[in-house]
Amino acid sequence: MRISLRFILPLGLVLGLVAYGVVPLVDVLAFRWFGRDLDIRARLIANTIQDGVVDSLHSGKSESVKRIFDRAIQDERLFAVGFCNLKNHLVYGTQTFPKEIRCQDVLVQEGDSPGTVLRLETGALHILAVDVQKRGKIVLLHDMSFITKRSTYTKKYIFGFFALLAAVISLITVVIAQISMRGLVSGMRALLRGESLVRPLSRIRSPELLPLAKDLRALVRDLERERRVKDEAQITWVPKTLKKILNEDLIGDEVLIVSNREPYIHVKKGDQIEIQVPASGLVTALEPVMRACSGTWIAHGSGSADREAVDAKDHVQVPPDEPSYQIRRVWLTPEEEAGYYYGFANEGLWPLCHIAHTRPTFRSSDWNHYVAVNRKFAEAVFQEAKTDDPVVLVQDYHFALLPKMIREKLPNATIISFWHIPWPNHEAFGICPWREEILEGLLGSSVVGFHTAYHCNHFIESVDRFLEARIDRESSTVSFGGKPTVIQSYPISIEWPPRWIKTQKSISECRYKVREMNGLPQNLYVGVGVDRLDYTKGIVERFLAVERLMEMNPEWVGRFSFIQIAAPSRSSIEQYQNFDQQVRALAERINQRFARPGYKPIILKVEHHEPDQVFEYYRGSDLCMVTSLHDGMNLVAKEFIGARDDDRGVLILSQFTGAARELPEALVVNPYNIDQCAVALQVALLMPLSEQTERMRAMRGLVQEFNVFRWAGRMLIDAGRIRSRQRLMGRISLTDAALHGKTSR
Ligand code: G6P
Repeated sequence: MRISLRFILPLGLVLGLVAYGVVPLVDVLAFRWFGRDLDIRARLIANTIQDGVVDSLHSGKSESVKRIFDRAIQDERLFAVGFCNLKNHLVYGTQTFPKEIRCQDVLVQEGDSPGTVLRLETGALHILAVDVQKRGKIVLLHDMSFITKRSTYTKKYIFGFFALLAAVISLITVVIAQISMRGLVSGMRALLRGESLVRPLSRIRSPELLPLAKDLRALVRDLERERRVKDEAQITWVPKTLKKILNEDLIGDEVLIVSNREPYIHVKKGDQIEIQVPASGLVTALEPVMRACSGTWIAHGSGSADREAVDAKDHVQVPPDEPSYQIRRVWLTPEEEAGYYYGFANEGLWPLCHIAHTRPTFRSSDWNHYVAVNRKFAEAVFQEAKTDDPVVLVQDYHFALLPKMIREKLPNATIISFWHIPWPNHEAFGICPWREEILEGLLGSSVVGFHTAYHCNHFIESVDRFLEARIDRESSTVSFGGKPTVIQSYPISIEWPPRWIKTQKSISECRYKVREMNGLPQNLYVGVGVDRLDYTKGIVERFLAVERLMEMNPEWVGRFSFIQIAAPSRSSIEQYQNFDQQVRALAERINQRFARPGYKPIILKVEHHEPDQVFEYYRGSDLCMVTSLHDGMNLVAKEFIGARDDDRGVLILSQFTGAARELPEALVVNPYNIDQCAVALQVALLMPLSEQTERMRAMRGLVQEFNVFRWAGRMLIDAGRIRSRQRLMGRISLTDAALHGKTSR
């Protein structure tokens, strides 16, 4: 359409110009030029016949004059000849001499003066009169139709010629315009992708432009950062947003997630198979993301009935009620699970990364399993990847080596690793015997994400201390082995609104149910804690705070109970077994101290609870206590907020969680300071409803805005940007190489 316009428009213009400008000019010029010819011709004929005419007139031979005239008009162009006497009578005239022409109207043209033109119905005539020696005048009439014929022919020729010329020129214009438009369009597109500035540079081989390339790199980074902040704030983060990002920023690229823990576990219960959702912050966050994005989630098949649920390719479609993505289960031998999961991941890295004063244990046999299992998952990624450049989201400390392994085989993959737990300072990290391997493994990623900037800094410090890498602190980029890895904070969150809220009963019903289920009086104040039974969660400190509250304010005895939901976790590990005993014993001791008939200050429930049951507790309680000794983020805090659509309830939150940085409206405590925690309990129990509402609304606003779709969306957007930046940087490197004369010519 645009091409034909580009062709027709100039063609039409040229033809119009020819038709209305050139063609009439041809008529005028033709008449002028041929008119001059006719003047000369007429004078020549007149001179030739003049003597004969004079002689014949002398001798009175009128027949002879007539003959001369008739002979003369045998010339095809001479139309008529006549002789007018001095009295202006037409004395002799050929038969063709028109009656309309009267002798008195025809003037003798002196010297070179041109003849006149008479336009009759039959056509135009050229008239020229020549004086005949004081006897009269010979009038010669030339037919001018030949001029019109010639003019028409010339006009046709000129029109045709110009039409052809215009067509050729238009065609050339279209071709040139097409070529330059393509260049312009791709230039514009590249500009929109932030590339165009560089494309011309890659062709420049001038050393003085070298600093410009560097400036451009910095400029591109700044623009990206600015754009990101602006873009993010303008987006409403819902599942649809993630789909849109996948379709637009990643243009339908495939997304693979790798984690140790799977989102749905098939468990044998007698003859039945039950499906459980595990207690895992990672699962809480990623499950709604995968629902939105589809794709494949590669995870360890750890359930007792997992093998029965999969197809021939070890896939199972989930969620069970409304399948929208698939789990690819990876099977581990008991030895692999013991070495990789219980051993290196949970006895080594877990205590290494959490400051919870539990000594990490490093065994080389565990390490070997860790390496082998990472390799096994890498193989699963290769099997699942349909393209050579998938987006792979590697989750957590179980897979520190995986990014490098994937990168070796899929160099074009975009690998985003997220470390869900804290990263310790370099001194603490440095005790790990395989610290270099772990750092190198993670630096196979395009991005390494942590919950907080604080953990990012610790990671960069560790790299600085233990690897030969180039660190750009301004852009938070580490280049190791020539490959850049961005170290970025992405504070994780929960889905908003939480899925489990939809099926919940009203707050008053939940309050009633929680008390009834636990045999508690309905007017009792209830606090809740929801954790895996893990030594990092500060469960002991929490119980001690409840005890201290009762010591300091005995009026709460019989009026307040604390319900601890503790999901059994990693129970093959000795430290977890000890911790389980310690927690049970402490609850027992405190209960013995303050129990009354029909009343216990601490209700410890060491069993798995499904998310909807947990939500019922959140909604039925007066306060929630999160007292982790160290925690990457802690999603229980955010879940409690998500459950409280009545804008009530108080959150007591450890200052050592990532969440505390985002939720200052909580009662933020140091869990090691038992007195302070007891006071926080007292403040929470006495907090007026209006203050509860004010704090809860502020926290709900934040969690809603910074929900898990935003967390995942930011990573996916970054993945998209990294892809386009990689192309861009590729060109810049080419330019740099060219500027340094390193390219092969
Ligand atoms: C933490 C880790 C997760 C893990 C979860 C539950 O949140 O960051 O990776 O899934 O604990 O632990 P588990 O060992 O039962 O998977």
